[in-house]
Amino acid sequence: MFSTQVVLCIQLWMSNLQLIYATILAWITVIYPQIQGASKFSTEKVNPAKVKLETKRSRTATPSSVNYHFTRQCNYKCGFCFHTAKTSFVLPIEEAKKGLQLLKKSGMEKINFSGGEPFLHERGEFLGKLVKYCKDDLQLPSVSIVSNGSMIRENWFQKYGEYLDILAISCDSFDEDTNQTIGRAQGKKSHVDNLLKVREWCRQYKVAFKINSVINTFNVDEDMTEKITELNPVRWKVFQCLVIDGENAGQDSLREAERFVVSDQQFQDFLERHKSISFLVPESNQKMRDSYLILDEYMRFLDCRAGRKDPSKSILDVGVEEAIQFSGFDEKMFLKRGGKYVWSKADMRLE
Ligand SMILES: C[S@@+](CC[C@H](N)C(=O)[O-])C[C@H]1O[C@@H](n2cnc3c(N)ncnc32)[C@H](O)[C@@H]1O
Ligand code: SF4
Repeated sequence: MFSTQVVLCIQLWMSNLQLIYATILAWITVIYPQIQGASKFSTEKVNPAKVKLETKRSRTATPSSVNYHFTRQCNYKCGFCFHTAKTSFVLPIEEAKKGLQLLKKSGMEKINFSGGEPFLHERGEFLGKLVKYCKDDLQLPSVSIVSNGSMIRENWFQKYGEYLDILAISCDSFDEDTNQTIGRAQGKKSHVDNLLKVREWCRQYKVAFKINSVINTFNVDEDMTEKITELNPVRWKVFQCLVIDGENAGQDSLREAERFVVSDQQFQDFLERHKSISFLVPESNQKMRDSYLILDEYMRFLDCRAGRKDPSKSILDVGVEEAIQFSGFDEKMFLKRGGKYVWSKADMRLE
């Protein structure tokens, strides 16, 4: 009799305990629905595809700095060019703005407009409107352009200069014959004269001025120290000439860059010769391949890791998060190459 009472007592105590446990669990899962999800995983059959997607999502890179090559058309014929005129397509401006808005929502802080020659389409008006939109409407901390400088007019600065943080002009040599040999020219016009003109406008209209140079067979022995120091850009980016299959190498390419390529040692020697320049930023082939987020004229990310430009789907069709998975972008490499620097002119002391 006594033992039956003890057993009944224990059973009652156990069921009360279960009730308390169930109540606590229900209470927690109402407050923290994600825990309910986690507990579901432990009781339900795990869906491997879902797990893979979740893992991928958590690793998605942030497109903090994006290079938008909205046109492939150009007025120059640089023999090593790795973004060639394979199409003449340019998105309608409202579509381009929609894409830029999506990028901003995904964390974009810096946009760089490139090409082709970005000042060519609609004589720079398309570019100007996008620059203004990014600064005024999207309030991006940094809006920049890379250009060959030959199509820029002073009235562009008057209209759009205030919305632009940085203008980078490409110049690979201060010797006009070398520029002609490279193809960095339109007819017989002086590329260096253009560079000097744009440099002055940048001072006048308070736009940070930058220079990009591609080190290749024809300028590798040049000493640019004096000229670069005189021009005093905020940054001098020095690229090792890069070969990309389908762009400047291979069967269907529009350029053949092999004859422009320099070895790692030659590139190092060039850097060594210019080591007195504190604002020089070197970019070897390795650094360039996976540390840039490149958007083409259809707003597709281009993955350069395999030595060619493999496109993702357009962010306008699948969104930024899905497209960026196929960009080949390595956020760590981006940070390692100093991709995040003072990039807003408000934070610079412009002379
Ligand atoms: C493709 S261009 C487009 C913008 C503009 N047309 C210009 O030349 O500045 C963008 C940058 O890439 C650089 N570039 C072009 N071909 C290259 C190559 N094969 N290796 C390294 N940089 C390259 C250019 O010098 C320029 O600074
Ligand atoms: S690198 Fe030369 S050819 Fe290529 S887009 Fe720029 S200016 Fe044009």
